[in-house]
Amino acid sequence: MELDQILNKEELTKDEIVFLLSLEKENEIEKLYLCADKIRKKYFGNEVHLRGIVEFSNYCEQDCLYCGLRKSNKNLQRYRMTKDEIISTAEKITQAGIKTVVLQSGEDHFYSSSLVTDIILTIKKKFESAITLSIGERGRDEYEEWKNAGADRYLLKHETANDELYSTYHQHEKLKSRLAHIKCLKKIGFQTGSGNIIGLPGQNIEDITDDILLCKEMECDMCSFSPFIPSQDSPLREVPSANTDLTLKTIAVARIVLKNVHIPSTTALLTLIGNGAEVGLKIGANVIMPNFTPIPYRDNYQIYKDKKTYDPIEFLNELKVMLDKIDRKVGEGKGHSLKLMLNQ
Ligand code: 5AD
Repeated sequence: MELDQILNKEELTKDEIVFLLSLEKENEIEKLYLCADKIRKKYFGNEVHLRGIVEFSNYCEQDCLYCGLRKSNKNLQRYRMTKDEIISTAEKITQAGIKTVVLQSGEDHFYSSSLVTDIILTIKKKFESAITLSIGERGRDEYEEWKNAGADRYLLKHETANDELYSTYHQHEKLKSRLAHIKCLKKIGFQTGSGNIIGLPGQNIEDITDDILLCKEMECDMCSFSPFIPSQDSPLREVPSANTDLTLKTIAVARIVLKNVHIPSTTALLTLIGNGAEVGLKIGANVIMPNFTPIPYRDNYQIYKDKKTYDPIEFLNELKVMLDKIDRKVGEGKGHSLKLMLNQ
């Protein structure tokens, strides 16, 4: 196969995606990154969208093998933030000029539909902010209620497109059921985010290709491709972190295939490589998600070990200097889905 030819194509086949993810030569990988960056620029110009995260509960009813929040982990100090704590964190996010609040937690039914609705209504009333929910699988009625209350977006990663691996890592649950949730969220009208974990044991390049193609098929608005990092309190504690090159190639190829979706430079990438935010933004990513979870909770949202932690205001100051350096700027507006804009 001829690299230049593939990079000039509008649609890529599965074999071509496998080919791109398998590139090894430095000059070829460089071409891949340049192509991804060009496509990112075509759709988003120099705007980088920020999403402020509040990790409001680390209780989780699930037992995913790779995750430090899994219910079997008895070493984790669990916390739940009150509604008032969540609202005051949303206020900090807004005051920092960020126009999306991401409410993230383990799967925790302590937060009833009506409590989540109440939180959404209060944030929407007090602040000019978009809301993204990232709280796992819930019922269709709940999704509808939260959409009606004003939530704009929902993140629910498919994690892996290989259904056998999916069932291995998720207590024998079915990928099909996960995808039904994502489709339901889309149908209800959420801007929907999916994505994978790169570097799970048993996963190969074809699986990662399928992850990217699945995001395309599902017409996701946001897609997050993040590296596996082991949690010492999970059965995968001995597994090495994802390969950095493979992680970066995945982000770049995802940009080339998915074109106008929002792709974050994730906290996991930041944890994997010190300058992850900058590197991600240069190879296809257009979103950064600063973490505003307050002390003392922040240190206990331990999805994986050594999760990068920082003071969000300092982080933002450094980020703005970095953006300036690479000729990018914080996006104006809420940074809604480009697909949504096209359909309006
Ligand atoms: N490494 C990287 N990402 C992980 N997640 C969970 N555990 C890990 C890990 N060990 C991601 C999953 C999940 C999100 C909450 O965190 O993709 O959707």
